[in-house]
Amino acid sequence: MKLCIRTYTGTGNTARASAIVAAQFPAPTWTVDTRLVTKAMADPYQGIADCDLLIVAFSSLGFSASLTMIQWIRTLPRRPGAKLALLCVCGSENRKGKYSGGWSGDALFSAARIVARRGWEIVGLSEASYPLNWTEMSNPPEEQHLPVLLEKGDHEVRSFSAALAGGSPARFVAETATRKSAQLVAVMFRLFGRRALAALFVSDNSCTSCGLCARSCPAQAIRMRSARPVWSGRCDSCNRCINICPSRSIVTSNLLMYAHSTIAVALAIAAFAIPLALGPVGTVLARIALLLIGPVLQFAFLAPVLSWLSRIPALRKIFSRSFMRNYRRYREARFMP
Ligand SMILES: Cc1cc2nc3c(=O)[nH]c(=O)nc-3n(C[C@H](O)[C@H](O)[C@H](O)COP(=O)(O)O)c2cc1C
Ligand code: SF4
Ligand code: SF4
Repeated sequence: MKLCIRTYTGTGNTARASAIVAAQFPAPTWTVDTRLVTKAMADPYQGIADCDLLIVAFSSLGFSASLTMIQWIRTLPRRPGAKLALLCVCGSENRKGKYSGGWSGDALFSAARIVARRGWEIVGLSEASYPLNWTEMSNPPEEQHLPVLLEKGDHEVRSFSAALAGGSPARFVAETATRKSAQLVAVMFRLFGRRALAALFVSDNSCTSCGLCARSCPAQAIRMRSARPVWSGRCDSCNRCINICPSRSIVTSNLLMYAHSTIAVALAIAAFAIPLALGPVGTVLARIALLLIGPVLQFAFLAPVLSWLSRIPALRKIFSRSFMRNYRRYREARFMP
C-alpha cells in the first residue's frame, strides 16, 4: 500500500510531524513517499495518482493554511472516494509556567471543504501543537521549554497517525462556535495580513548576502537585489527566512511598522470622512471600495518605495531598528532548508 505525505513547513515543525506520521506506516505493508510543498515544485502532484492514502500536513498561519498550500489543495487532481487526511500544526508556548497549545482556527475546516469538493474522502483531521515560530512579532519559547513542547506535539501526532494506521476514526479537532470569526481572520490574513507583515522585513548591516533566505523561501517571495533580500507580496508569512538567517540579520522594522500603520489609519479615516453625494447605498459602496483600494495602493506602490529607501546604506541603520532585535530564533533542530 502507498502512503503519500505532502507537507508545507516554515521552520520544520510540520516536517518533524510528518516524519512521525511516516514512522507509523511501516514497510513492507506500506511504502511512504514524503515531499515538501513549495512554489518551486517542478511537478506538484507527482506520485499521488495511485496512493492509497494522502496525508496533507501544514502549519497554521493566521488561522489558515499558507497561501501556497491552499493553492496546492485547490488544484489537487480529482480522485472521487480516495482517502485523505489533514494535519494542521499549530504554535505552543509556555506562558507564566503554563504550557498552552495553539489553535488552527479555520485552517483544517476550509482545507477539508476544498478537498471534499475535489471528491476525496476525508478520513482524518487533526491539530498538533509545536513551538511557536512567529519570531517577527513574538519571542519564541525559551530553550528550556522546547523539549516539553516538542514532546507534547509528538504525542498528538502519534495519536492521530496511530488511529489512521489502525483504520479508526482520526478526528482530533473540536468544532467551536468561534470558528466562524476565525474564518474571517483567515481570509483577511491571506488577503492582506501576510503582505503587510512581509512589507516590514528588512535585513540589517550584518547581512552577508549569502542568499540562503531567498533560496529556501517556500513561496519564492524573496529576490536578491544589489546583494540584499527584497520581500514581495507572495510571502506566506511562514517566518522561515527570519528564523534561519545565519547572521540573524532579518528584523521587523519599527520605522516601516509605524509608517505603514499610520498610512493605513489615514486611508481608513479618509475613506469614512470624505463627504460623498452618492445617496446612502452609493456612499456605503464607495466607502467599502475606498477601504479596499487603500491597502492595494499601499502594497503596490508605497511598500516598494519604502523598501527601496530601507536599502539605501545611509538609511539602513534607521530602518533596521527593531523591537524584536534580541528575540530568540526558532527552528526545529534537524530542519536544514
Ligand atoms: C504569521 C504566523 C501566524 C501564525 N498563526 C497561528 C495560528 O493562527 N494558530 C496557531 O496555533 N499558531 C500560529 N502560528 C504558529 C505556527 O503555526 C507554529 O509555530 C507551527 O508549529 C509552525 O510550524 P512549521 O515550523 O512547520 O512552520 C503562526 C505563526 C506565524 C509565523
Ligand atoms: S540569509 Fe541572512 S545573511 Fe543571508 S542574504 Fe538573507 S538576510 Fe542576508
Ligand atoms: S519571505 Fe520569509 S516568511 Fe515569507 S514565505 Fe518566504 S521564507 Fe516565509
